[in-house]
Amino acid sequence: MYRIAPSLLSADFARLGEEVRNVVAAGADWIHFDVMDNHYVPNLTIGPLVCEAIRPHTQAPIDVHLMVKPVDRIIPDFAKAGANIITFHPEASEHIDRTLGLIRDAGCQAGLVFNPATPLHHLDHVMDKIDVVLLMSVNPGFGGQKFIPATLDKLRAARARLDAYEAQSGRKVLLEIDGGVKTDNIADIARAGADTFVAGSAVFGAGRESDPNRYDTVIGNLRSALARL
Ligand code: DX5
Ligand code: ZN
Repeated sequence: MYRIAPSLLSADFARLGEEVRNVVAAGADWIHFDVMDNHYVPNLTIGPLVCEAIRPHTQAPIDVHLMVKPVDRIIPDFAKAGANIITFHPEASEHIDRTLGLIRDAGCQAGLVFNPATPLHHLDHVMDKIDVVLLMSVNPGFGGQKFIPATLDKLRAARARLDAYEAQSGRKVLLEIDGGVKTDNIADIARAGADTFVAGSAVFGAGRESDPNRYDTVIGNLRSALARL
């Protein structure tokens, strides 16, 4: 019912294959893969070559979050590199409908990402091409930021839209949250309507060296907070 998607942004980039295997063994459902271009966001991360390199290390879906502009050119490369889900920001696409179509045509699931200040109305005429809605609960660009509380209201609004769409179409669209998700706020976030949770620093953060079992512990703690709902 709930999916936990650890973000590789906070993993050890020198040992990515091992990090992916360990975090999936510890119970991760998806691998969240943050792509930044030093243009749409002021940071530079990883691209299709790295996606291709981690692909053989897991069967778990790779959830590619594109923070790049322009977006269309790079989509087929990620599909070929083994991405399962590709999401992008509406501000980064000249033509949202076409970009969603490109992702679907490449055989991936497609989604739109909303910055804290981006209105949800971008969903209005494209719901039939969307598999995931990703709400940012921080401004994109960096891991380890604090969850912005106003996101809870926006989550409730997105939940209402997706429920209305499901009632009318019979199709379920996932509602994913990204930024500042921790053990102590995941229950409130789930109550507001999220079903898929990105967690970077919470899972891969401090203490990595001291406790090899901590991915199990953190993911276990996130799940028990959800189980208590
Ligand atoms: C931010 C990224 C997030 C980030 C989440 O731009 O999209 O996926 O890695 O990291 P935490 O969980 O540390 O906020
Ligand atoms: Zn992300």
